[in-house]
Amino acid sequence: MTSVVVAYHSGYGHTKRLVDGAVAGASSVAGVTARTVDVSTIDDAGWETLNQAGGIIFATPTYMGGISAPFKAFADASAKVWITQGWKDKVAGGMTVSNSPSGEKQVTLQYLATLASQHSMVWASIGMMPGKYNEAHPELNRLGSAMGVMSEAENAPPEETPPAGDIETARLYGVRVAELAKKIHG
Ligand SMILES: Cc1cc2nc3c(=O)[nH]c(=O)nc-3n(C[C@H](O)[C@H](O)[C@H](O)COP(=O)(O)O)c2cc1C
Repeated sequence: MTSVVVAYHSGYGHTKRLVDGAVAGASSVAGVTARTVDVSTIDDAGWETLNQAGGIIFATPTYMGGISAPFKAFADASAKVWITQGWKDKVAGGMTVSNSPSGEKQVTLQYLATLASQHSMVWASIGMMPGKYNEAHPELNRLGSAMGVMSEAENAPPEETPPAGDIETARLYGVRVAELAKKIHG
C-alpha cells in the first residue's frame, strides 16, 4: 500500500478545487491512499505524512508570476528533508491556477519541477494530449500543458471556477501519479 499526498497552498480556494480532484483520482486507484497537507499550516505530523508518501503532488496558485509565498516558505523548510534526500525516488507532480490564460503558470510549474529535482524525485508529466487534440473531450487539459495541471480562474469565485474539465484533468492526473507511485513503491 502506497500513498499519494497533495501538498498545497490555496489562498482563495481555486487551487483547493484541483487538489480535491487529484485526491479523488489518486484514492480511486486500488492499493493507494490519498491525503492532503496544507503547507501553510504544516506541522510535524504533516512532514511525516509527506515522508511516508510514495508520491507528492505540489499545488500552489500562481501569484506574481510564480509560486505563492506560503508555498515558498514550505519549499524552503523542505531543505531539512533535502539534506538527507528523504524524498528520493518519490513520484512528484505539480498543479497551479492563475487568473489569466498565461498568467506565467509555466514559471510556477518549472519551479515545482526544480524543487522535485533538488529532492531527487521522479517528475510526472501530465500524460495527456492538449484538449484541442482530443475531439471527444476538448475540456481535458484544455490549456495544453505537458508539465502538470494548469487551470485558469477567469476572474470568478472558487464556487464557479476552475471549470469541471480542469477538475477532471486534476482527477486524471491524480490517477496517473498514483499509478506511477504504485509501480515504483508498491
Ligand atoms: C497576490 C496575488 C498575485 C497574483 N498574481 C497572478 C499572476 O501573476 N498571474 C495571474 O494570472 N493571476 C494572478 N493572481 C490571480 C490568482 O492566480 C488566481 O486568483 C488564483 O485562482 C488564486 O488561487 P487560489 O484561490 O487557490 O488562491 C494573483 C492573485 C493574488 C492574490
